[in-house]
Amino acid sequence: MDQNLTNLKNEALAMIMEAETTDELEQIRVRYLSKKGKLNNVFAELMETVEDKKQLGQVFNQAKQTLEDTLEDKLGKLSARPDRQEWFDVTQPGLDIPLGHLHPISQAIEEITQIFKGIGFTRVRYPEVDWDWYVFEALNFIKGHPARDDWETYWIDYPPSPKYGEMVLSTHTSNGQVREMERVKKPPIRMLNIAKCYRRQQDVTHVNMFHQFEGLVIDKGINIQNLKGTIDYFAKNYYGPKAKSRIRPYNFPFTEPSFEVDFTCTNCDGKGCKFCKAGWHEVGGAGMVHPDVLKAGNIDSKEYTGFAFGWGIERTYTLKPGLKLDDIRPFYDNQLKFLEQF
Ligand code: DAH
Repeated sequence: MDQNLTNLKNEALAMIMEAETTDELEQIRVRYLSKKGKLNNVFAELMETVEDKKQLGQVFNQAKQTLEDTLEDKLGKLSARPDRQEWFDVTQPGLDIPLGHLHPISQAIEEITQIFKGIGFTRVRYPEVDWDWYVFEALNFIKGHPARDDWETYWIDYPPSPKYGEMVLSTHTSNGQVREMERVKKPPIRMLNIAKCYRRQQDVTHVNMFHQFEGLVIDKGINIQNLKGTIDYFAKNYYGPKAKSRIRPYNFPFTEPSFEVDFTCTNCDGKGCKFCKAGWHEVGGAGMVHPDVLKAGNIDSKEYTGFAFGWGIERTYTLKPGLKLDDIRPFYDNQLKFLEQF
């Protein structure tokens, strides 16, 4: 009697094998496997007459399972391969796989590097975790000097070196100055040091980790004109031919004289607008390298002079024409919606 069920199973299996579309498969499923399908009907009829109901149940379950598995298998194959009867548009565009790009600050680093390479600067890298000596002491910040407070420093819990003092997270790229003098030994030096810097600070224009670039030029006869010319060259190459720079007297322990550096606002071309201070943006510091710093780097200040400058890359970047960004924190929030715009 269970032969009836087996015949039915074989009949359905043959149809599944021959089916060419997913629609056909669905029809077969309804005809044989649905609630009112053939398999259930025949089973119900047999249950009325057959003695060994247990064995009949087993045959029924096996037949049902085999059909369901085969059907599912075939469905998988048909859906993976669009067959002749299913419409397939060969002109449809492919999937748009999103392409990433460099982080805006990496782009800025790349551009700044190229601009200074053009006038003979060499890009170098020095430690971000450095000794007090290179970050402060060799740059004329004596221990306990109040000027150190402006560089809100993270100190590293590490045994101090008898020669170099304590270890800190470098607060500025000026730590590269004496290191570069030690590396090159004899001028000329044209260094571009770009690195991460760290300070205990957090507000719209400051983050704990940021980037600076630092220029250092040492040779015979280097003077303030060379410094001003270099800064102006940078302004024009980075912000466009209309950009101007100016230097104002200031005080840093490691330069004499020292200056603050301003660039014209790219939003109003220096006329004055709500983004700037009367047409100018302050960006960073510069000056003629102090003879004590040359001495710390073993360079004879009677024979050589030099200039240095350094400032934040995030700030420099936000002043690009059209950006009008007054908050630098989003650069480090990992929000793709923000970063994708650059
Ligand atoms: N290191 C200074 C800072 O972080 C900036 C600076 C000022 C760099 C004067 C220089 C310089 O090279 O000459 O605020």
